[in-house]
Amino acid sequence: MLVVDFGAQYAQLIARRVREARVYSEIVPHSMPVAEMLARDPAAIILSGGPSSVYAEGAPQVDPKLFDAGVPVFGICYGFQAMARALGGEVAHTGTREYGRTPLRVAADPGVLLRELAPEFEVWMSHGDACAAAPAGFAVTASSAAPVAVFEDVAGRRAGVQFHPEVLHTVHGQTVLTRFLYDIAGLAPTWTPANIIEEQVAAVRALVGDRQVICGLSGGVDSAVAAALVHRAVGDQLTCVFVDHGLLRAGEAEQVENDYVAATGIRLKVVDARERFLGALAGVTDPEEKRKIIGREFIRVFEAAAREVDAERDVEFLVQGTLYPDVVESGGGTGTANIKSHHNVGGLPDDLRFALVEPLRTLFKDEVRALGLELGLPEAMVWRHPFPGPGLAIRIIGAVDEERLATLRAADLIAREELTAAGLDREVWQFPVVLLADVRSVGVQGDGRTYGHPVVLRPVSSEDAMTADWSRLPYDVVARISTRITNEVAEVNRVTLDVTSKPPGTIEWE
Ligand code: XMP
Repeated sequence: MLVVDFGAQYAQLIARRVREARVYSEIVPHSMPVAEMLARDPAAIILSGGPSSVYAEGAPQVDPKLFDAGVPVFGICYGFQAMARALGGEVAHTGTREYGRTPLRVAADPGVLLRELAPEFEVWMSHGDACAAAPAGFAVTASSAAPVAVFEDVAGRRAGVQFHPEVLHTVHGQTVLTRFLYDIAGLAPTWTPANIIEEQVAAVRALVGDRQVICGLSGGVDSAVAAALVHRAVGDQLTCVFVDHGLLRAGEAEQVENDYVAATGIRLKVVDARERFLGALAGVTDPEEKRKIIGREFIRVFEAAAREVDAERDVEFLVQGTLYPDVVESGGGTGTANIKSHHNVGGLPDDLRFALVEPLRTLFKDEVRALGLELGLPEAMVWRHPFPGPGLAIRIIGAVDEERLATLRAADLIAREELTAAGLDREVWQFPVVLLADVRSVGVQGDGRTYGHPVVLRPVSSEDAMTADWSRLPYDVVARISTRITNEVAEVNRVTLDVTSKPPGTIEWE
């Protein structure tokens, strides 16, 4: 089904909720001509919320032709008002403004969307104008301060809600959305991990045929799932390359080299580039300089490995773990195409051009994780927190060397172990541990004075890493981490907690 984006920040959330109801959804811009939308043969259409008033100059309108095609339509917030207006209902500047949690009063006849829920419950609103009269043929099944907050025309397979069913603050929001999908639009819940795998496997096979594919593994979930999917499709035609730059956390290289290979049976070429990276980073303290060096070395090492694989096997495709939000945000096509052909990939040189295979291009992160589990990947990999490409190098404030990496790895492992033991992995978005390698402070341990380094704990909660807040970890968890680190990591005699949000701080320290 299609989610028509009227410029609200909620379109992606709506698409995700629809998929949580196991119905495949794609986002299209409201500027797309209706003929083009219909040409995609959607099983249903959702009109999303939008920031503007339907009366504002230049406000996006709904082309009435959308309603002539017999496709089920659901309007949300702005989409609800635009729908009301296009079908002859009345939308007015009533002076009614509702923002945030609002009580919804269900009519005596609750209809299909609201049947057997509650006479009144809280929903999330965000609107200025209000719908004063539903279009002919629609039953009004709830009101708020606005006289018409929910309407439906079950026979015509159309309905709309003034509130935002996709946000968690709306009680019964997912139920209402699901009822539109199943009971009004008549859709079936077929978008399951097993079906997604089957579909993508078929698509990759059709694209790749009997040709050879290469994939770089980073240790992160996206590349791991993308490679596992492609492997399921074309088996031995896939070669994976893992560049061990020595900047990963404790156990992560082994996870790729042992657990992942054991789980998938993938052919893996491991490049041990630890010395090379450490050599290039020796004495470098400037954050940007570190990043540039790591980026440059990474491309060089990967390129050399890719050339070797290419020489042996004549590679034509490169797997990339691009996700749907990247595709939507870059304004890219929302089609299901698995290929952007002959792209100059990730800084690889012109004579080493591969066509792209992007089997995750239509998926959200939570779907990628579900697929990873379905494909039998190690849980630790599937649920790994985001981790920056330059790795621990940008979590050592000061120059990077083997000894400092070992210190940070030990402290980081303790923090991760305790977070997991407290059952907080999924509540925390990311948990960098930072070593202030150029700072020393005085401490006392046993009978002796110590002069060690501080580490900083930086647990953050976030939706997308664009903004973040520091996580209010329970103090006993923080205390356990602190005690263990200062006891078990000899070089560290002080543990501090970073209580800065983003902005003004960034998540990483460098
Ligand atoms: P900041 O520190 O800018 O980080 O708040 C935002 C998110 O991006 C991650 N990050 C990176 N990821 N390569 C990556 O793949 C990088 O160079 C990089 N730098 C930061 C960071 O961990 C956080 O999730």
